[in-house]
Parts: sequence; structure tokens; C-alpha cells
Amino acid sequence: MTGTPSRMKAPAVLPQSNDECWCGSGRKYKRCHKGLEGRITPGIISPMRAVPDHIVKPPYAATGEVPRWNEPKVKSPEIIEKMRYACDMATDILRVAGEYVQVGMTTNDIDIFVHDLTIERGAYPSPLNYHRYPKSVCTSLNEVICHGIPDDTVIEDGDIINLDVTCYVNGVHGDTNATFCVGNVSDIDRNLVKVTEECLWLGIGAVKPDRPLSDIGKAIEDHATAHRLGVVRAFIGHGIGEQFHSDVQVLHYYDARNNMLMKPGMIFTIEPMITLGTYQFHMWDDDWTAVTADGKRTAQFEHTILVTETGCEVLTGGDKAVSPRQPSSS
Ligand code: MF3
Ligand code: CO
Ligand code: CO
Repeated sequence: MTGTPSRMKAPAVLPQSNDECWCGSGRKYKRCHKGLEGRITPGIISPMRAVPDHIVKPPYAATGEVPRWNEPKVKSPEIIEKMRYACDMATDILRVAGEYVQVGMTTNDIDIFVHDLTIERGAYPSPLNYHRYPKSVCTSLNEVICHGIPDDTVIEDGDIINLDVTCYVNGVHGDTNATFCVGNVSDIDRNLVKVTEECLWLGIGAVKPDRPLSDIGKAIEDHATAHRLGVVRAFIGHGIGEQFHSDVQVLHYYDARNNMLMKPGMIFTIEPMITLGTYQFHMWDDDWTAVTADGKRTAQFEHTILVTETGCEVLTGGDKAVSPRQPSSS
């Protein structure tokens, strides 16, 4: 199918529930498109972009197959130094990409921008061909929880969009994301974005050596619940280093079984996805795009974190980060 509208369009005046749907299916409106107006739908994905020969590529770049191996959870000083560099680069690219977002451009335009900028800085855009993911950044609009694939969907006034940037350089990955408000965003959505960022920083505040990882999820869930917001459970933070995703698991809600102790030298991400409605998700047929089951909006922020002797260092949280420090949580 070509020319798929990437936004569900409807007439200005909607039918009554029992009348015929506006889409021409002949079905009752209430059994067809009622409540689906304005939702994001799959657009057209352009061919995969090339990466020049001089860029050092991760092992999956050519095949889309991701090898897994046992990587130490506590990193060597050499790997930590490389992580600081990869994370600084991802931080910078995320900020610049966020500034680039404008009403009327497509999510594919953002992909081209991030792809070229990453290569210009000498890194490989980690998402590209990771488990066959076809693009260089994730662009998740409105009800898309995560892993939105850049396509010909046009960004509109009032949208919220998460950009998730990961750089592979000197053999390690640095991973960070943020949600940006485009133009006139409603107060409800702005609050969602604000509370989500607070959730990330409260999770970061819970990072302490010899404490269980579950402290992080508890801090996040408590704050989201106090604001009557949902916490997505299906996608979690992860160990990161020479592999994009390694086996440390960071839940964003409280589960006593998430009891691995944090140790100085461990590196993992915290990346809560917070929803206005249900935390349940639905997966598109592309097997990547996760949307909220009820179509309500969702936001996400992510940092890569190094556990230290006293707490943590936010590797993607330099002065120029989109989400630079703990916002006052109210
Ligand atoms: N950056 C995402 C994360 O935070 C992972 C994206 S995987 C991709 O874990 F294949 F979709 F790029
Ligand atoms: Co990410
Ligand atoms: Co991540």
C-alpha cells in the first residue's frame, strides 16, 4: 500500500455513534474509527542510509544480527573513559537534534539530520541495523511509547516527540533520549513531559552503591503514581558498554525481585516511559513501534549512568544536556 496517511484524518464534524463511519467502510462509526482520530499510523520508510567506510562499525552493522557475550558489569577505567566520550557525543547530538525539530518536517528529516551529524563527529548511529532496525534514531510521537521508526509522518503543532540518540564510538555505546514539545502543547501534555523528566531524576537520585536496583523503580513509580500517571512495564533500562544492551535490567516500577546490588563501575541506563492513561502497550506490525493501548500520550527521558563510590555520575548529563540536572519536583 502506498500513500498511507500517517495521521488518522477525520472530517470536522464527526458522525453520531450509530451512524456510518466517516472513512467510507459502511460500518457503524462506533465500531470503526470512533476515538482513533488524530492517532499516529505507519508512514512510508525510506531506504536504509549508508555509513562511510572510515566509520568503525559495531558487529551487527553489516548483518543486523546482534552477537551477545558476557561483558563485565563493572567496567574497567579504560571503558569508563570511552563511555564518557560516547555519552558526551550522544548528549550533544540529542540537544542539537531537539533544536532542529520544527512543525512541518517529517520524522525522516530528523533521521537524516542525526545520521549525518553522528557520522560527521566520527561515530556510528547505534540504532542503524540493530536487530534490523532500519534507521539511525528513534522518533516517538504522541502515543508512541518508544522505538518509533522515522518515516514520512509530518510533525504537527502541539505534538510531543521523543528523540532517542545512541552513538557507537571507540567500541562503546552512549544512549540518551528526551521528549520535546512542538509549538502549542496542551498543559496536560506539558505536565506529562515535566513529571516524566522528574521521574528520571528521582530514579537517578536512588542510584547508590550496595543498594538494590529496585530502589530506582520505586522512586520512579511513587512519583508517577502521585501524579496519577502510568509507568510502562514492557520496556526497561539496560546495562550498556561494548554492547548496546547487556544484561543488567533496570525496571521503572517497583519489583522486589529486581534485587541485583548496584556496584561502583556499573553502567546502565534509566529511561522511564510515563503515560497519561494505561501502561499497557500495543505493538505495530513493524515489530518495533510500541504505542499505548488506549492511544493516550506518553513521554520518556533517558540517561546513561555510572555508579560511583558515593552515588553516580550521569554520563549523558553534561552541562549542555537537554535534561541537565534534577528539576524541582513538585
Ligand atoms: N536507544 C533505545 C534504548 O534506549 C534502543 C533503540 S533500539 C533500536 O534502549 F534498534 F530501536 F534502535
Ligand atoms: Co535510548
Ligand atoms: Co536505552
